[in-house]
Amino acid sequence: MQLAMINDEILPLDKLDSAYLDRGLYFGDGVYEVVRSYEGKIFALDEHLARFGNSLAGIEIEDVNIGQIRKKVIDAFETAKIHNARIYFHITRGSALREHNWDDHIKPNFFLTITDLPDFTGLKQKGITVSTQPDLRWKKCWIKSLNLLANILARHAAAAKGCDEAILVDDAGLITEGSGSSFFAILGRGLRTAPLTANILGSITRGYVIKAAENLNIEVIEKSLSPDEAKNADELFLTVTTKDIIPVIKFDDETIGNSQPGPITKNLITEFLKFTK
Ligand code: PDD
Repeated sequence: MQLAMINDEILPLDKLDSAYLDRGLYFGDGVYEVVRSYEGKIFALDEHLARFGNSLAGIEIEDVNIGQIRKKVIDAFETAKIHNARIYFHITRGSALREHNWDDHIKPNFFLTITDLPDFTGLKQKGITVSTQPDLRWKKCWIKSLNLLANILARHAAAAKGCDEAILVDDAGLITEGSGSSFFAILGRGLRTAPLTANILGSITRGYVIKAAENLNIEVIEKSLSPDEAKNADELFLTVTTKDIIPVIKFDDETIGNSQPGPITKNLITEFLKFTK
């Protein structure tokens, strides 16, 4: 008989929950979003949903109604009643017996969780440490795919060095982004970050930080940095939905600035939070 084994339990294949046959599990064949709320208000949901739609198209998952996804997210958020929430959701191509190619009639699977967002105030006041790791990801990092092996292994290698995030460096020796964040440097009066053409994710927070910098009349230069430029920066920070702006005080064991979050970074944090009200 066709069967499955889950850990030590054998069961007939036709009794297996279809979640075990999800292509997201077999191949990472799906895309995801992480959204947050600030004091009961979901932040930038429409930007996240627009990116989600682009990611779905990027891996040829069709016929997903983004309006229905929006309603699911809002309904779940209202049910959860969590003020500062981390909202995770993904869509995979669906469940089927393992075959690389897929049947066009396969039905996508939707999954969502809403969890408490930890309070990162202390981390933002203290700053974090980062270590560079090779960027071994695929060539379509604009797609927020479930294929995160290169990201998590880089993060693990950074953690093994006692660092909070891995900063990925491409084959040209230039920084792309963090394993789960965007990377920024303050050099003199200018704000530097990799351009979207540099095989990075079109981060939502990155876009708002650029707007915040423009509001503060800070020149934004979208040009990739080398690790040496980053080491000699006046200030460094990362941006990500769950933490918005996180100062970096150590880069590959090099102390940044006076080993405290920099003044321009702090001004950007204040300016960014105006968007969330
Ligand atoms: N990560 N770059 C990468 C590779 C990311 O995985 C993320 C987000 C970002 C920041 O994107 P945004 O500002 O839209 O959150 C940049 C999510 C939070 C995650 O995988 O948990």
